[in-house]
Amino acid sequence: MLDRPYTLLSCALSLDGYLGSATARRLELSNDADFDRVDAVRASCDAILVGAATVRHDNPRLLVRSKARRDERTAHRLPPSPIKVTLTERVELDAGADFFTTGDAEKLVYCASERVADARSRLGSVATVVDGGQPVAMRTISEDLGARGVRRLMVEGGGKVHTQFLTENVADELQLVVAPFFVGDSRAPRFVSDGRFPWTPDRRARLAGVRQIGDVVLLRYALSPRFRAD
Ligand SMILES: NC(=O)c1ccc[n+]([C@@H]2O[C@H](COP(=O)([O-])OP(=O)(O)OC[C@H]3O[C@@H](n4cnc5c(N)ncnc54)[C@H](OP(=O)(O)O)[C@@H]3O)[C@@H](O)[C@H]2O)c1
Repeated sequence: MLDRPYTLLSCALSLDGYLGSATARRLELSNDADFDRVDAVRASCDAILVGAATVRHDNPRLLVRSKARRDERTAHRLPPSPIKVTLTERVELDAGADFFTTGDAEKLVYCASERVADARSRLGSVATVVDGGQPVAMRTISEDLGARGVRRLMVEGGGKVHTQFLTENVADELQLVVAPFFVGDSRAPRFVSDGRFPWTPDRRARLAGVRQIGDVVLLRYALSPRFRAD
C-alpha cells in the first residue's frame, strides 16, 4: 500500500447537521475566533482539498490569511499557502474562480480518466489536471498526493467529499464545529450523505477533544491509530 498523507477533515455545521443554506447565499456557521483557528490548521498543512461544488458555490480562496503564519511557512521553505486540490466529474469549473487565480501554490484538479482531456482544455495552465481513475477514489487521490510530497492534508468539504473520505476510511481526524442555530431546510447540503461508515454503534469513534470557542464548539475525533493530538 502506498503512503498517504495524515488526513484531517474539517467542517462547521448547524445544530441540525447542515453545512450551509439551501440558497445561493454563503452561510457563515463559524465565528471569527474559529476562522482564525481554521487558518492555523490550514497553515499546518501541505494541501487543502474541497469538492468542485464548494469551489462553485463558495468561490473560496483557500489561502492562509495571517501574514505571520505565511511568513513562518516561507521561513521553512514552504509556499505561503498550501497546495489547493479539487475533484470533479462534470468539469464545470471556472478558470477565473478564486481557487485558481489566488495564491502562488500549485492547484491540482483530479477528475475521472475519461474527462482528463476536457478538463485540460477547459482549465489550460491555471491548474494541473490529474487522472484520478474511473471512478475517482479518495484513496487514489490520497496516495497520489503522498507521492507528490504531501504529508498533511486538510479536507474542507463539502458533504459529498467528506462522505467519501469517511466511507473509504482514509481519514485520520475529524474536526467538527457546531454552530448554535438551525438551518431547518432539507434542501440544504448535509455534513454527510448515505453510506457505510466505519464508525457504528458497535465501533464508536474516539472523541479526542472538546473546546468551546465563543458561541461554537469544536469536537475532535480520532478516526485512525495515526491520530495526533498536537
Ligand atoms: N460548513 C462548512 O464547513 C462547509 C465547507 C465546505 C463546503 N460547504 C458547503 O457545502 C456545499 C457543497 O457541498 P456538496 O456536498 O454539495 O459538494 P462538494 O463535496 O463540495 O463537491 C461535490 C462535487 O465534487 C466532485 N466530486 C465529488 N466526488 C467525486 C468523485 N468521486 N469523482 C469526481 N468528482 C467528484 C463533483 O463535482 P462535479 O459536480 O463538478 O462533477 C461533485 O458534484 C456548499 O453549499 C458549501 O457552501 C460547507
